Amino acid sequence: MQILLLGSGGREHALAWKIAQSPKVSKLFIAPGNGGTGKVGQNVDIKVNDFESIKKFVLENSIDMVVVGPEDPLVNGIYDYFKNDAQTKNICVIGPSAQAAQLEGSKDYAKQFMMRHGIPTAAYRTFTKDSFDLAVDFLKTLQAPYVLKADGLCAGKGVLILNDFDEAVKELKEMFDGMFGDASARVIIEEFMSGIECSVFVLTDGKNYQILPEAKDYKRIGEHDTGLNTGGMGSVSPVPFATKEWMKKVEDRIIRPTVEGIYSEGLDYKGFIFFGLINVDGNPKVIEYNVRMGDPETETVMLRLKSDIVDLFQGIADGTLDKCKVEFDDRSAVCVMLVSGGYPEHYEKGFVIDGIENITDKDSVVFHAGTKLDSAGNVITAGGRVIAVSSYGSNKQEALEKSFQGAGKINFEKKYFRSDIGQDL
Ligand code: AMP
Ligand code: GLY
Repeated sequence: MQILLLGSGGREHALAWKIAQSPKVSKLFIAPGNGGTGKVGQNVDIKVNDFESIKKFVLENSIDMVVVGPEDPLVNGIYDYFKNDAQTKNICVIGPSAQAAQLEGSKDYAKQFMMRHGIPTAAYRTFTKDSFDLAVDFLKTLQAPYVLKADGLCAGKGVLILNDFDEAVKELKEMFDGMFGDASARVIIEEFMSGIECSVFVLTDGKNYQILPEAKDYKRIGEHDTGLNTGGMGSVSPVPFATKEWMKKVEDRIIRPTVEGIYSEGLDYKGFIFFGLINVDGNPKVIEYNVRMGDPETETVMLRLKSDIVDLFQGIADGTLDKCKVEFDDRSAVCVMLVSGGYPEHYEKGFVIDGIENITDKDSVVFHAGTKLDSAGNVITAGGRVIAVSSYGSNKQEALEKSFQGAGKINFEKKYFRSDIGQDL
């Protein structure tokens, strides 16, 4: 089988690493890929939203399956683009249709879906600029902290959590005035939920589902969860509080009703569902849906997925995912993200990265994120999140020691990482 994977982050390197291990794969391409993905497949210089070039490449290279990493092309309708074209309609695209991708693309759509199917989430209301006064009235009924969410995609930046009422009103006005462009033309105001977060992932063929290993990601830039939100500074799997009992609640109250909802509403969904959950007094609630894998969760989830991921993708393509078996690796996996100094604000790129070859521990896997090769073949920094050092361990602490050791061996100017990943669990 020939597979094309779309994306260029640490998530895609981890997916590529896992896909390449399948004996079913004869050739793996990654578009556009990064400085590391070329080691497990062949990079192709095509952007993820350039559907026409992707189609041309797929036809010319006899690609059997397209696996979509990031949300953008999904929300922009890559699934439908392939399905509605006579030349490509039989090529399996792993990802939801544009309509189903609204579960991530519109927070209001996701909330309404959850309401229709009785899925536990924060109480909320949605407002537009015209209903600003009603929005302020609704805010008055809530208690601090106040949660304001832009409806549309904002590359993970569209959520504001404010401790002060007057500030919340001010920010709300700015959101309506275009703080996030069209994405904040509608704003969701919701009840604040207090608890620890956990990311749960499933694969679905639109009717059946299989649960993958769960993970916890560390979003803030600073140690002990301080400072600005980032794309994610590290992850840990398994998550100790996600016991069998808790996961049963997740499956009964959240996963099954979601997949049944997708099926009963006739949504075309063949891909990953990412449940962003929070544990409120022992009860899981949904913070958000994403229609893709998480990053940097994938960098630990792929380590712990023992089964052949291409078998699972094939089960999705055939609508027989219920016949597949998912096996987990019993070991712990952790990921420590090395980032560019200054991230998530201003940072420089283009620094040479040294020392990757010094990580020789068989239990560590180095995934590239924002890297590329320069004309001399050096790996250089090309983004905020640069390298994910993932490791196995017989327990979390052992895995962490290996990843921190690895993190110390890789060098580039202004390298920064959090040395407290996993310590709160
Ligand atoms: P989202 O983009 O919806 O995942 O929100 C980003 C982050 O904001 C989440 O990962 C949570 O840490 C936080 N957050 C979002 N909604 C809530 C809520 N209702 N209560 C508490 N924290 C929230
Ligand atoms: N790690 C969170 C995300 O991928 O959205």
